[in-house]
Amino acid sequence: MPQQPDEPVSHTEAAHAKINLYLHVTGKRPDGYHLLDSLVVFAGAADQLTYVPSATPLSLELTGPFGRKLAAEATDDNLVIRAARLLTESGDTPLTGRLVLEKNLPVASGIGGGSADAAATLRLVDRVLALGTPEQRLLSIAEQLGADVPVCLVQKPILMRGIGEQLDPAPTLPACGIVLVNCGEAVSTPAIFKARNAAFSGDAILPTGWPSATAMTDDLQRLSNDLEPPACALCPSISIVLDAIGALPGCLLSRMSGSGATCFGLFDTAESAEAAGSLLRQEQQNDWWIWAGPVL
Ligand code: C5P
Repeated sequence: MPQQPDEPVSHTEAAHAKINLYLHVTGKRPDGYHLLDSLVVFAGAADQLTYVPSATPLSLELTGPFGRKLAAEATDDNLVIRAARLLTESGDTPLTGRLVLEKNLPVASGIGGGSADAAATLRLVDRVLALGTPEQRLLSIAEQLGADVPVCLVQKPILMRGIGEQLDPAPTLPACGIVLVNCGEAVSTPAIFKARNAAFSGDAILPTGWPSATAMTDDLQRLSNDLEPPACALCPSISIVLDAIGALPGCLLSRMSGSGATCFGLFDTAESAEAAGSLLRQEQQNDWWIWAGPVL
């Protein structure tokens, strides 16, 4: 439908699912935050954030399949509102208008969620208001909002270290497909970090690139998500999901992302991932959220 001349223009930004292909916990800071070494990529699955500029006070509306889970949190504490305010607080006039978050990704699920939404807010508001905020300032605001927000701001394959704020170039990645599965149980990130009691891992040694998904997954098999054992202990459904993904035809690697509970399977192509995702949808008797498609 063509836009009416007096209709406010809206603008949309995708907040893609963040996937930790491996995640080593390498130490702990005195403030309790953990040092990480992780190769992060993004899947096609995404929340969609829309900003409709207007003179009304800033508001946030939650829609989409997982919008209701967050509805109670659509307050000033919501990361989206906080991100918008932090970005514009040095301006002469407070930010006004309507933000609409279509929540397509399960909440508290290890694939970015609130962090990806906050990062999308920074990109969107900066673009729509033509603020031209320098990248370093955007990254510093992102860091204030949460450990995973800087990586979600960049939203491309990256090596994440420190507590999430040190971002280094990733090896050259092959095209590949991914199946994401969430069992529907929200997992608390602090609880998973607290339950982790294994020795710290070292930083992974990675090649400059991989020629194929098979070569990449051969290397990834030797690495781990150090949060997977404590997450499986606290949420046994994760082990069931991992087994189901691993049994899918063509699955090269099955692993949990972040602090869970979402798990992923890597496939040669987006098409083989989609075929495996369809099969899993037919087979599974549980109320699992299943998404299949490309790694970006
Ligand atoms: O920074 P964010 O609010 O996303 O982190 C949530 C919680 O996860 C922290 O309060 C901390 O308990 C844990 N965490 C951690 N080390 C990190 C990231 C998160 O211990 N690098």
